[in-house]
Amino acid sequence: MIKIAPSILSANFANLASDIKIVEEAGADMLHIDVMDGHFVPNITIGAPVVKSLRKVTDMFFDVHLMIENPEKHIKDFVDAGANLITVHIEATKHAHRLIQMIKQAGVKASVALNPATPINVLDYILDDLDMILVMSVNPGFGGQTFIPAIFDKITRLKEYLRDHGKSIPIQVDGGIGLNNIDKVCKCGAEIIVSGTAIFNSDNIKETIRIMKKADGNK
Ligand code: DX5
Ligand code: ZN
Repeated sequence: MIKIAPSILSANFANLASDIKIVEEAGADMLHIDVMDGHFVPNITIGAPVVKSLRKVTDMFFDVHLMIENPEKHIKDFVDAGANLITVHIEATKHAHRLIQMIKQAGVKASVALNPATPINVLDYILDDLDMILVMSVNPGFGGQTFIPAIFDKITRLKEYLRDHGKSIPIQVDGGIGLNNIDKVCKCGAEIIVSGTAIFNSDNIKETIRIMKKADGNK
């Protein structure tokens, strides 16, 4: 079954604990936490202290998406705050291999994100160490953007690429996904779907997550 990772970027920041409870009870598989620094991306969102506070109100798996420069400097803080998986942008580091080792050695799962214009072959020499790959389907920095159509092909190619390399690393896709396009995204090979606006702005969060989880790549 497809895994759903609601992005709290679209939740009510004044009521994060109750919004998290809602998606947790609705059957969300993990919580996607978007960390933005105002440098790598235009916006500033939340940092490790907020993650630490959230850790006290839920046992959900914390999928922390770092959209920050110098991610090396902040890995320990997010691990100490309670992250279970950390995604770093390949475009934000000169030393991707070392950074991934750093994340693993800190005791959490490691993932890299590829911006829409970043080619798949940047993964060639780091595949052995990845627990997930995040394909951005919007340019990072804002919630509520439109899915970039060229990314359907990128997901399909990444799925083939992983098969060719004998890897079964789960593909997460992030940005502009809702009930209108989730089936197609999954059919291309996505296994974990990040969704912010489509979940938190829906009239019935529970029902939206229930339908999303049934998105079937084989349909
Ligand atoms: C974009 C973030 C995404 C995004 C998802 O920079 O990484 O997680 O907020 O939100 P929607 O589903 O609204 O595109
Ligand atoms: Zn994200």
